[in-house]
Amino acid sequence: MLASATTVDEARWLEAHGADAVIAQGLEAGGHRGHFLSDDLSLQLGTCALLPQVVRAVRVPVIAAGGIADAAGVAAAQALGAAAVQVGTAYLLCPEAQTSPLHRQALQSDAAHHTALTNVFTGRPARGIVNRAMRALGQGSVGWCPVAPAFPLAASAMAPLRSAAEQAGRSDFTPLWAGQAAPLCRPMPAGELTRALASGWRA
Ligand SMILES: Cc1cc2nc3c(=O)[nH]c(=O)nc-3n(C[C@H](O)[C@H](O)[C@H](O)COP(=O)(O)O)c2cc1C
Repeated sequence: MLASATTVDEARWLEAHGADAVIAQGLEAGGHRGHFLSDDLSLQLGTCALLPQVVRAVRVPVIAAGGIADAAGVAAAQALGAAAVQVGTAYLLCPEAQTSPLHRQALQSDAAHHTALTNVFTGRPARGIVNRAMRALGQGSVGWCPVAPAFPLAASAMAPLRSAAEQAGRSDFTPLWAGQAAPLCRPMPAGELTRALASGWRA
């Protein structure tokens, strides 16, 4: 059994409950956060800080996730003690991925340089490319709305706006899940990307 940990405490909890390996999910990662012991996002660390701490804290293999999008990132994760890497964002432009045309467009635009954690699309924290909904509904920080409907109800609250905007060819109200490495995304077949990533791993 594999599961994500966003803190050292979560990694220890997973090991104690029988995980065969732990995924250390850094704050850079795209999409929903995997936290489960605390909703306090200030406890969550970036990959370079989280990974070596988790490696020291548990005996099971640790899989690095968050911000890894090229061979150098893979090599860095291995140097920090990872037994393997998990990559999400870098695959979003692969032809095999079911990424929508609007999402692909955002990933290849300047907008991809600014991602943030948001709860406005589903009610649970997730990282995506900042868009109009995240700016308009964010209070205090971009993408963060203290009164967002609880997970998963925010998605249905947003659905009519999202649908109307998408029909007009706009991603203003669409979740554009992506991690901080989004600008490193390149359109290429998944096999080619996997071989490029694997070239950073020292056997
Ligand atoms: C489009 C997308 C959706 C994701 N959805 C989830 C999710 O629902 N739950 C979760 O724990 N992680 C989710 N993730 C995070 C991945 O499991 C993984 O930890 C992450 O992609 C690694 O970081 P990276 O995106 O920087 O490569 C998602 C990632 C992406 C890119």
